[in-house]
Amino acid sequence: MTNTLLVLGSANADLVVEVGRRPAGGETVLGGDTVVLPGGKGANTAVAAARVGASVALVGAVGGDGYGSLLRESLESSGVDTSLVKTSSRPTGIAYITVTPDGENSIVVSPGANADVASSDVDALSFDGAQVLTCSLEVPLETVIHAIDVASKAGVRTVLNLSPVAELPASTLAQLDTLIVNEHEAAELVSDWRHLLRLGPKTAIVTLGSRGVAVVVPAGVTEVPGIKVDEVVDTTGAGDAFAGAFSARLAEGDRVVVAAEYAVKVAALSVTKAGAQPSYPTAAEVSSLAAE
Ligand code: RIB
Ligand code: NA
Repeated sequence: MTNTLLVLGSANADLVVEVGRRPAGGETVLGGDTVVLPGGKGANTAVAAARVGASVALVGAVGGDGYGSLLRESLESSGVDTSLVKTSSRPTGIAYITVTPDGENSIVVSPGANADVASSDVDALSFDGAQVLTCSLEVPLETVIHAIDVASKAGVRTVLNLSPVAELPASTLAQLDTLIVNEHEAAELVSDWRHLLRLGPKTAIVTLGSRGVAVVVPAGVTEVPGIKVDEVVDTTGAGDAFAGAFSARLAEGDRVVVAAEYAVKVAALSVTKAGAQPSYPTAAEVSSLAAE
């Protein structure tokens, strides 16, 4: 089957521990039991897209270790094509995540195998039948720059989730169909969201956490309000859930605002459950939310 969506990005084992508060430098706090969950911005994005029905392949790398198997299983059981996930000689990427009672998280990433995702992997890709390429930045920047260049020249729409934030060449920004940033990243880039398009992308989306997103198109800014959830359990990977569901809808031909409205629902549902990938809803769950 042709994959209409390609996701280029990281796959990490998320080692999650709940803490009452984060330790300061030189301090020790005791946390709960460690939970190991499949994560990584690229894998999360691909899983979120597959759960809502996209035909999606992940371009990435894991190690030949147990965490690599955990990730392959999570991807495959969600329906992500893993034929473009290579096994590197380095260990699988790991994210060390602390979650506080308010559901807020802080993360240290050890890239491992993700650092091996290379431009040569992009050159080996076929973009035949692909509608959208979506990238995030826990893999080498030069690989992402190359992928966006090749995809845009092949007429494939390009989406970049600028997370974690990095500086990109103007030529890359100009090749983007949609730039996704959070409000802190947006503030680092421009003083007014409308000016995001001056950086080059055709459209931009500013994610605002529980407040939803702002969609920036040449005609102006459309605010898509957030969806209230009863309890915020874990916000880890909510941005990736948004990027994945947005890309899935874009690959199906939705307009940017319509795709963003759908993806806001997916992100909202994701924060009601623990972890990143295990918390992502199916299309059926999204429709039942819409019916409430
Ligand atoms: O965006 C959330 C993700 O960031 C986690 O799954 C973790 O792996 C880090 O990459
Ligand atoms: Na979650």
